[in-house]
Amino acid sequence: MKYKIICVVGARPNFMKSAPLMKKLLIHKNDIETLLIHTGQHYDNNLSQLFFDDLKMPAPDVYLGVGSGSHGEQTANIMLKLEKVFLKEKPHLVVVFGDVNSTMAAAIVAAKMCIKVAHVESGLRSFDRTMPEELNRIVTDHLSDFLFVTEKSGMENLSHEGISPEKVFFTGNIMIDSLINNLEIARRSDLLEKLSLSPENYVALTLHRPSNVDNKDVLQKLLAIIKEVADRLPVVFPCHPRTQANLAEFGLSGTINTKGLKIIEPLGYLDFMKLLSESKFVLTDSGGIQEETTYLRIPCITIRETTERPITAEIGSNIVTGTDSDKILETVESIISGKFKEGKIPDLWDGNTADRIVSIIRQNISGK
Ligand code: UD1
Repeated sequence: MKYKIICVVGARPNFMKSAPLMKKLLIHKNDIETLLIHTGQHYDNNLSQLFFDDLKMPAPDVYLGVGSGSHGEQTANIMLKLEKVFLKEKPHLVVVFGDVNSTMAAAIVAAKMCIKVAHVESGLRSFDRTMPEELNRIVTDHLSDFLFVTEKSGMENLSHEGISPEKVFFTGNIMIDSLINNLEIARRSDLLEKLSLSPENYVALTLHRPSNVDNKDVLQKLLAIIKEVADRLPVVFPCHPRTQANLAEFGLSGTINTKGLKIIEPLGYLDFMKLLSESKFVLTDSGGIQEETTYLRIPCITIRETTERPITAEIGSNIVTGTDSDKILETVESIISGKFKEGKIPDLWDGNTADRIVSIIRQNISGK
């Protein structure tokens, strides 16, 4: 009987982490059967299908269509539907990625059914339990049998939490595999012409963390900072649906019609990599973008109090400023005047992470 692996994805940041692994697993189709399940946590074309197209991913074998909801509702819906699929398919291993609700839901269902779990991007900790992702990371790691870690801090965090070192593997950053595989193609995108921008002469902005966009006062304060930045350089803001909805609900949509700020729909993977890679700097509250800018050596200002990816600030081109406007604007000045630090690329962010993971899975699971 063939060894059966199910990879579970659900939300935008899962897709670029699963694409390189799916590709490498499918090479071994003679002895490993690999299925892809999409929970449907993200369902808009530009948060989901566009990424499958850009990353040349196979269509999901099963689409659960769970959609949006409260945390409890969404997690429970994913669990109910996944359990049925796992019962039918009887996988030997379930692979989950990152820290979204789909990640944790799949890990819980698999572990309860005594199916082995592999967590790609394990060990990251912000030490802020008000972040939904932090709870998803902790639960997923403690239920996993194979923990694939992106940076050294992850090894230390898992050791402090008493996770047995035999389960933990420092394999590097799989998202950087996707970036390396696609950068040439992304550079050919005509996005900058479409937006009338010139390279290194604009700022890329993303904002979607609940702590920044779900509270009117915080969002208003951030918009004031963004306006000041937009007075210096054009700012391009692919706006996440959560943020779009809140801008409308808080009556702030009018206030963002400011010169220098271009608000656009969320971009696909290739256009977004183009936007990042040619920007002067990036303002963001995302997790993954801190890593992508570190690899690209583009200055990144992270508008959060903490990061679960400390290597990006320690040796990379990232700085974690929180929402403090003086600190953000001082950093903007230091970047524009060429005084910002030079970043380095962390160990094993080299494009070969999927290979390392597949070889560990084959050695440990299928006994090859
Ligand atoms: C989720 C992840 C977050 C990740 C982000 C990337 C969790 C807890 N959060 O946050 O870690 O950084 O994805 O995008 O898993 N919506 C749409 N279309 C969609 C999906 C969502 O319009 O295709 C809207 C809905 O109104 C929904 C809201 O966005 O209620 C939030 O979506 P949800 O998946 O719950 O969380 P994200 O904020 O996207």
